[in-house]
Amino acid sequence: MNWISRLFGRPKQPAPSVSSIARFFNEAARDEEHFPSSIDPRIYHVQLVLSHLGDVSGRTVADLGCGKGRFARIVAERNPAARVVAIDLAEAMLAQADLNLLRCAASMTSLPLASGSCDGAYATESLEHAVDIEAAVSEICRIVKPGGRILIIDKNASHWGRLKTPEWERWFGRRELERLLARHCSQVSSRFISYWDDVEPDGLFIAWLAVK
Ligand SMILES: C[S@@+](CC[C@H](N)C(=O)[O-])C[C@H]1O[C@@H](n2cnc3c(N)ncnc32)[C@H](O)[C@@H]1O
Repeated sequence: MNWISRLFGRPKQPAPSVSSIARFFNEAARDEEHFPSSIDPRIYHVQLVLSHLGDVSGRTVADLGCGKGRFARIVAERNPAARVVAIDLAEAMLAQADLNLLRCAASMTSLPLASGSCDGAYATESLEHAVDIEAAVSEICRIVKPGGRILIIDKNASHWGRLKTPEWERWFGRRELERLLARHCSQVSSRFISYWDDVEPDGLFIAWLAVK
């Protein structure tokens, strides 16, 4: 390396655009192994979504970054009178979601839903891809009415490096997301979770639970 390249250093990569992230997930939709279309309802992540939302019969719930709608399908099955809105950036993911869901292609950083239109909203392993995390949290909270419930499940920043990740992915500290949610919500907490409720969490997954 000569003095000129040392002086200028390595050029910083520009942040990937929303359209390139959408392209990535549109292609990833073919990968059923890593982006499955179903999930065992006994998995604690699913149980926590169901229990935190509570009885949503006759109510509207949004799954943000729903992928192939594996969580949304179970929420709809358990609450047949609920309106479940499944939102994802990637149309190819949505194309594999249950036709009974109200499906919509959009970014969670700019949601096409009216303020206070939902009784609950959740995002499982999707906020980590939203790049503008403050905008996404603000949007999730905007569409939920006062008293409505919000749940985010994502990975712990202090375990960064454990898995292969695309360049834009972000993991979060507990306090970091608690603080963002607390700007909009009256009650916020977080806890470590694992896939099974009888297995001690190893710190990889965190659930943030909020009431607006
Ligand atoms: C790891 S998958 C998780 C999917 C689903 N929540 C699940 O647990 O099965 C991440 C999903 O987030 C979506 N996504 C990424 N960025 C997004 C954004 N800005 N707004 C909405 N969805 C987004 C991707 O298209 C992908 O389907």
